[in-house]
Amino acid sequence: MPSDRVTVPLIRKKKEIGEKIAVLTAYDYPFAKLIDEAGIDILLVGDTLGIVVQGEESTLPVTMDQMIYHTQMVSRAAKRALVVGDMPFMSYQASLEETLTNAGRFLKEGRAGAVKLEGGARVLDRVEALTRQDIPVMAHIGLTPQSLHRMGGYKVQGRNTQEAQELLSDAKALESAGAFSLVLEGIPTDLAKDITAAIDIPTIGIGAGPHCDGQVLVLHDLLGLFTRFQPKFVRRYADLATIAGEAFLRYKSDVQSGKFPSEEEGYSDSHRS
Ligand code: KIV
Repeated sequence: MPSDRVTVPLIRKKKEIGEKIAVLTAYDYPFAKLIDEAGIDILLVGDTLGIVVQGEESTLPVTMDQMIYHTQMVSRAAKRALVVGDMPFMSYQASLEETLTNAGRFLKEGRAGAVKLEGGARVLDRVEALTRQDIPVMAHIGLTPQSLHRMGGYKVQGRNTQEAQELLSDAKALESAGAFSLVLEGIPTDLAKDITAAIDIPTIGIGAGPHCDGQVLVLHDLLGLFTRFQPKFVRRYADLATIAGEAFLRYKSDVQSGKFPSEEEGYSDSHRS
């Protein structure tokens, strides 16, 4: 393993030394290469691909085979970043055996270095079993998109005392079960701050305020490529939808007017000259 590779122990170390962790989702080779070259620490092959790549309404339809396909593309591009494969809905819920088999596929076939799964108390045995087999686990609590139907929509979690206490105790239990990091999604800033202070593994926030040990954003949100809706916590660093749309219009106009291709953009017929 090259010495500048981001590893699971390095991610844990970053919290100890107070270095913030930058995480982005990635789904394909060209973007994963750009993200890796920019020095982002973790490429998360998120099941958000169901929404931002496949055009589904939720992450629930995403399959294991699709996740492996995308993880392979991302892993081929990642020369430095740690690749984390997101376990899709029903790949770890039914049994411990399926959890191990599916998580193993992310490492064996997808070439990922870790997996992520959603849930608190109910997934502790999964997290324990995976870490016992040396499959590092990034846990994920708060607004967990695979629990869409239980939550009744994508709603901020942990706003009342009981929910907040449950999330705090889930975070501690997940750390004890062996998780190497914890995504906190869609929870109040103060709660995320308390959880971050209460555990030794790094917290990675999304819609959880500025006090987490790292942040994650969905690539298509950051680039302004996903325009169906924009959650409050998203900061758009580019407007690629507009740039791409304008390029397509110019291309169409050049084709229709005969400006593309020019003579120079064609091949010469050398045997005639
Ligand atoms: O699937 C995903 O992209 C995620 C992140 C938003 C944390 O779970």
